[in-house]
Amino acid sequence: MDLEKIRNDFPILNRIINGHQVIYFDNAATTQRPRQVIEAVKNFYETMNANIHRAVHTLSYEATVAYEEAHKKVAKFINARSWREIVFTRNATEAVNLVAYAWGLANLKEGDEIVVTIMEHHSNIVPWQWLRKFKGITLKFVDITDDGYLKIDEFEKLITEKTKLVGVVHASNVLGTINPVKDIVKIAKSKGSYVLIDGAQSAPHIKIDVQDIGCDFFVASGHKMLGPTGIGFLYARREILEQMEPFLYGGDMISTVTIEGATWNELPWKFEAGTPNVAGGIGLGVAVDYLQSIGIDKVFEHEKELLNYAFEKMADIPDIEIYGPKKNRLGVISFNIRGIHPHDIAGVLDQHGIAVRSGNHCTQPLLARLGVDNTVRASFYIYNTFEEIDRFVEALKKAVKIFKR
Ligand code: ALA
Repeated sequence: MDLEKIRNDFPILNRIINGHQVIYFDNAATTQRPRQVIEAVKNFYETMNANIHRAVHTLSYEATVAYEEAHKKVAKFINARSWREIVFTRNATEAVNLVAYAWGLANLKEGDEIVVTIMEHHSNIVPWQWLRKFKGITLKFVDITDDGYLKIDEFEKLITEKTKLVGVVHASNVLGTINPVKDIVKIAKSKGSYVLIDGAQSAPHIKIDVQDIGCDFFVASGHKMLGPTGIGFLYARREILEQMEPFLYGGDMISTVTIEGATWNELPWKFEAGTPNVAGGIGLGVAVDYLQSIGIDKVFEHEKELLNYAFEKMADIPDIEIYGPKKNRLGVISFNIRGIHPHDIAGVLDQHGIAVRSGNHCTQPLLARLGVDNTVRASFYIYNTFEEIDRFVEALKKAVKIFKR
């Protein structure tokens, strides 16, 4: 991996913040975009902007082809059988909501069960709680071990013939844990349940093969994988999408409309009502090209090296507690330093130009399980360097000095 070349593709990395060249360690919240993605969005508006699927003129044709091409790129990236199994949404959250509304409302009844885990992001909890209110379903949570792995034997116990959906985060945005989703799918399938994988944190970092995983639904966000904001995707098996009712109703999702009713467009447009985020979709396609040009295995290798280096360097910070497992994890480090509030640590880091997230990371049930309200979180990506970790650890030591005098 040519780190210097990669860094040169990200204009924002030259920003000076509080007198320092920015160190961007908030990649689990959103990554930065390479110039190729920024250019693709700009190029769309400057040369091709038109509505898709609605006109015979050249601009509309070009926009349509480019937007469809982006679905094909995403399908290939996660090894879907067909690009028609890829529905573009605003983000992973909207993709989960799509499943909750369009599949859940129509298919679940009182007494049915959904199994999720305590490791989930709010977006894979709250939509199911909403469904529980309207459909009288039961929501069950699989616990974690004290070192941050899912308790796999609990899936065996909690998934029963009543389970209609198992929702699992592929990789935790707090602990970094990469979950054995293929094994979980096997357990769920043996009881006849569907499985939804939240891939918001995995798709940017590790190779995804939805056919090999065997899941029914897979969701991710473009902005966490170098793409624009406001674009994400739902993968679902074609048979399921064909049987499902639409999510949003209106233009482009229909085939015919009379005053009596309507029939639905072919996949995936049945689920993309209204004018979609065409520029965002095209940008996401280019982000996928960019990741593939580096090689997702190389991306993950680099992050693992950064993670191990950071673990070593952070070991001698007094009173530090780092959450999550030691192995099989992403380059995400959530931690606390006893006696200092996470926002204070993040404030000192910001004074040194270092961006980290502090707070509950949209995972309040997980933090409650860990017995904390907040953590500081540093999360790495392809453009981060060992020198940046040195500066980060130095700044952390300064924070300790300031607050623990
Ligand atoms: N889900 C995002 C995060 O982990 C926002 O920060």
